[in-house]
Parts: sequence; structure tokens; C-alpha cells
Amino acid sequence: MRRLLPNAHAPYSGVHVAAAVESEDGRVTYGVNVENAAYPLGQCAEASAIGAAVTLGPTKLTRVYVASSLPGLIWPCGGCRQKIFELASEGCEVVSLGAEGKVGRQTIEQLLPLGFRLEPGAGHRV
Ligand code: THU
Repeated sequence: MRRLLPNAHAPYSGVHVAAAVESEDGRVTYGVNVENAAYPLGQCAEASAIGAAVTLGPTKLTRVYVASSLPGLIWPCGGCRQKIFELASEGCEVVSLGAEGKVGRQTIEQLLPLGFRLEPGAGHRV
């Protein structure tokens, strides 16, 4: 998956990130970060990979891989943790693939304890 790092569109930060998400049915989709001159519009690699997975049909994530051009391991930002949590099966593993073959593993529950869920059937009135 690190082979996708050059494809990131990251002219502003210079940080290239690639992600892959594995679904319960074995399907794997990929994404990279896509930055924008209007900085807040930039999209993280995890969001790109999740979007690609959802595009192919219903998905329940079993594993998420992330890699970057930075030295060492990176972990998904807070917003992406919530995006993963939304579609994760219980115990969904987040695997960080560093340069030099270093690997780190955390479950989504470790990375995002008490993530936000709407109660099933809850209304949306205020
Ligand atoms: N980035 C990701 O793609 N995923 C993360 O988990 C953390 C940060 C991107 C956003 C931005 O394009 C660049 O890395 C530097 O923050």
C-alpha cells in the first residue's frame, strides 16, 4: 500500500498519506489524501478509502491500514477515527505501516473510546 504514497495530492503540507480499508466480505479499497488550495476542504486518505468502499456497496470494516511519508508511525486523525467507527465491525483493527517495515496495531475502540452513535430510532427534532 505504501506504493500509493506518490499519488497523494499534498502540495501544501507535503505529507503524503495512503490508506486501505478491508471489508467483511474481503473487499479492499484504497485512498490517498487530497488537499485543496482552500485548506479546510482537504480530505484525509482514510476518508478517500472509506468513500471508495461505500461506493461499491454496503460495507462493514474489519481492518484499516494507514501509511505516510513521515518517519515513524501515524494514526488516523480524530475525525477519521469517527468515520472509521461509523462503519467498523467490533474490534476493527487499525494497522499503521511505517517506513523501514515498522508496524503498529490498535483497535478502533482503543483509538476512539466512546465514539458517537445515534441511538437506533432516535428522532432528529430539537
Ligand atoms: N492526513 C491524512 O490523510 N490522514 C491522517 O490520518 C492524518 C492526516 C493528511 C491530511 C493532510 O493532507 C496531511 O495529512 C497533513 O496533515
